[in-house]
Amino acid sequence: MNALGTPLGPPLALLAELTHRCPLGCPYCSNPLALDRVRDELDTATWLRVIDEAAALGILQIHFSGGEPLVRRDLATLIGRASAAGLYTNLITSAVLLDEARLAALAEAGLEHVQISFQDTEPANADRIAGYDGGHGKKLAAARMVRAAGLALTINAVMHRQNLAHLPDMIALALDLGAGRLEIAHVQYYGWALANRQSLIPRREDVRAAVAIVAAARERLKGRLVIDHVVPDYYARRPKACMGGWARQFVNIAPSGLVLPCHAAQGIPNLRFDSVKERSLGDIWAASDAFERFRGTAWMPEPCRSCDRREIDFGGCRCQAMALTGDAGATDPACALSPHHAQLLAMAEAESAAAEPAAFVYRRYAKTPREAELPA
Ligand code: SF4
Ligand code: FES
Repeated sequence: MNALGTPLGPPLALLAELTHRCPLGCPYCSNPLALDRVRDELDTATWLRVIDEAAALGILQIHFSGGEPLVRRDLATLIGRASAAGLYTNLITSAVLLDEARLAALAEAGLEHVQISFQDTEPANADRIAGYDGGHGKKLAAARMVRAAGLALTINAVMHRQNLAHLPDMIALALDLGAGRLEIAHVQYYGWALANRQSLIPRREDVRAAVAIVAAARERLKGRLVIDHVVPDYYARRPKACMGGWARQFVNIAPSGLVLPCHAAQGIPNLRFDSVKERSLGDIWAASDAFERFRGTAWMPEPCRSCDRREIDFGGCRCQAMALTGDAGATDPACALSPHHAQLLAMAEAESAAAEPAAFVYRRYAKTPREAELPA
């Protein structure tokens, strides 16, 4: 049973963050500011056990992610086990380390789908945003390899102030590369992205224009390209149901083995996360303190508690509530009914109007900036 008093189903999908190592330095990386070290990463045997536990729990899809999952030498072994257990296998990658031999080995192991991130369509700007010279060209080549190998391809495009003008070109690029799906996600501001918010946040009118561009493209490309669009919360009137609701549909495992309801949950203090090193995935899903804390609706304060959307958006995003109000149990300030909403909107409008965006704080594996180095 869960906090709603109804039987708890299995999560739909597992995000397996194999490592925080990554050659890129995207300033909106969804990894936590304090990155897990190599020596703390789960070993192959533990991942194999966890994959079996995921299948036994009833999980249908596994997304191998990071950091950059291609840095793990055991990736094909893990994909092979997941495929043999009947899980749909997806690789989420920057693709700059992908070559034909590696791709062939992963496909042979059972890989079905690849998601490749693009930072922009203009090569020099893409490489600048990623903090990686020559990366854009490698991604183009990798995407073509994926299609030539007969695997399904999704393009991930994180949009923000410094690439939003190229949105139509991004849609054209996804078509040209033969992707079946394009995920257009405006930056969500926690972790690294919060540290870089002043350099990333777009103007409200540009977001409005982007919504219209996506709507027209969806109509025009029906049956050829599926376009998912995540708009920035700050300009919304109601929040998104982050992760489909806390601990309802998705489960993340961090490189060190901590099991999380979402990729950013480690930024919430006073939550106790269990590790697959000590408990089974099924046990953690059913009864971990961190999962139970915001599952369902019983934890909600007003205005969520008496709102008729409480089982639609589940009060929005806990990590955003934490980042913006200091209280993970507060109504997400993206909601116009939150007492913090007006302040959030004013701040978004002021920051996005700045003539010059601030310099990026890049996410670097070897050098995590100290608090003092991050912009206020
Ligand atoms: Fe969602 Fe809470 Fe806002 Fe209602 S008050 S729309 S439940 S965030
Ligand atoms: Fe953690 Fe939204 S990212 S709940």
